[in-house]
Amino acid sequence: MTSSPTFSHVVFMTRRFEEMKAWYMNVFGAEIVHGDPALAFLTYDDESHRFAIANLDILKPDAPADSGHGEIGLNHIAYTYPTAADLLETYARLKEQGLTPYWPVHHGFTLSMYYQDPDGNRIELQVESCNSQEAFDYMRSDAFASNPVGVEYDPEDLLERYRNGASEAELTAFPKGSPSPIPEAHGIA
Ligand SMILES: [Fe+2]
Repeated sequence: MTSSPTFSHVVFMTRRFEEMKAWYMNVFGAEIVHGDPALAFLTYDDESHRFAIANLDILKPDAPADSGHGEIGLNHIAYTYPTAADLLETYARLKEQGLTPYWPVHHGFTLSMYYQDPDGNRIELQVESCNSQEAFDYMRSDAFASNPVGVEYDPEDLLERYRNGASEAELTAFPKGSPSPIPEAHGIA
């Protein structure tokens, strides 16, 4: 039986980027771990990020500004499993029900699978691939600045390696590869 996941972070999409950052810094006492013109990652504890804020003015500049609530708001909520085994057992269980992730991506510090609920809300299921200090260091590195999205992987391949006895370290290792395109289903590309 797999262990239950715990809450990790929430990601918002906004056209009030500076105001949103300031609000979460003010209300939660959060600090910016990584910030660039398109994305900001903030935390208030030892989690690598508790909030991420995506700037639609940069990521989707051509969308009409007066489209009402539109794409503004929640992008996804993330939950962390204790082990890659838990994540992959969950992947296998859901796949048997016809539920598959729309984006399997390794973010460099988390091995992640993004799903959509029946309403289209995005849920990230993840496992950490390093400890929190290493995650902070990575998010502040040039490597992260040059690829803040991550590298896509094949969950079937990973499941097979898990079933063949690959270790946690092997399963959570950051794959080499070029930056993953952000799929349209993710809402910010
Ligand atoms: Fe996330």
